[in-house]
Amino acid sequence: MVVRSLVTGCGAHLPERVVTNDELARSVDTSDEWIYERTGIRERRIAAEDEKTSALGAAAAEAALQSAGAAAADVDLIVLATTTPDETFPATATQVQALIGATKAAAFDVQAVCSGFIFSLAVADSFIQTGRAETALVIGAETFSRIVDWQDRDTCVLFGDGAGAVVLRASNGAGTGADRGILSTHLHSDGRFHDLLYTDGGPSSTRTVGQVRMVGKEVFRHAVANLASVLEEALTANGLEAEDIDWLVPHQANKRILDSTARKLGLPPEKMVVTIERHANTSAASIPLALAEASSDGRIKPGDVVILEAMGGGFTWASCVLRW
Ligand code: UT7
Repeated sequence: MVVRSLVTGCGAHLPERVVTNDELARSVDTSDEWIYERTGIRERRIAAEDEKTSALGAAAAEAALQSAGAAAADVDLIVLATTTPDETFPATATQVQALIGATKAAAFDVQAVCSGFIFSLAVADSFIQTGRAETALVIGAETFSRIVDWQDRDTCVLFGDGAGAVVLRASNGAGTGADRGILSTHLHSDGRFHDLLYTDGGPSSTRTVGQVRMVGKEVFRHAVANLASVLEEALTANGLEAEDIDWLVPHQANKRILDSTARKLGLPPEKMVVTIERHANTSAASIPLALAEASSDGRIKPGDVVILEAMGGGFTWASCVLRW
């Protein structure tokens, strides 16, 4: 008998304001055609001036609790992945805790940029497996628009704001791949690649927030290679073949990266959940947003084998295999 972390509910929250490629093309030298062809993005949501990451995260968390039929008072642990916290401290997770009234929960943030949601799932899964938590909220929430240089067409067209959340509950399993719940997580980091994707500021360096800087072509090249290898690692660890996978839910960075990943894995494109056209890259929020969408519309069903993958600044990259 082993303890598994079962996803019992998902929630999402997007800011109201939609910004299309055409709208961006009025302020920077770009076009809907270029953005869509190179990235698969048509539009993104942008948070209102006074709408903080914690507000997006709390709305997604409440929706996830409702879909799980759980109460905020039952939550033992909140792990929130973000690169755009409300403040340098305290952790945005604590503000979400206060907003939703999860008074008994321990709450903290995880920083692994676009891989943050999978890193957070791995942390929460470890707490559950070791009996330190029974009900956990794992949230990815971002107001990435706040750290984008809106004059830099290389990056400003890529990102959006939003939040997604899942509720994890401890559940008994047999210790085999037939169990429902998280079956594996694999996490990787390589800080030598800092200069390819980073913000040019921070509390300890410039005492400012900084803005996103990226060598897009190089990040693209590493993403394609790292994602293929982390997926291979996940399949091998679980004794799975590509045809055993029901759904690939990737971090949504670039449609061309997504297509290449599915192709390398040997997975038909219709088994991949794609939201990038409407959400753009919402960093840590992109996977839980996609999970919430594909579970609420009935695509992902109980018993399905779902594989998650992400790659982001650091570099960090990661995978998670779960049976829904
Ligand atoms: O989530 C974290 C991980 N992030 C990623 O995985 C992002 C990975 N990188 C990418 O998705 C792609 O590299 C980009 C979408 C960022 C760029 O696509 P690319 O095919 O690598 O284009 P590029 O950077 O090589 O630029 C090609 C051309 C350049 O013009 P020249 O030098 O060929 O004349 C750019 O100046 O496209 C130009 N360009 C643009 N043109 C119109 C760059 N950005 C834009 C733009 N609109 N927004």
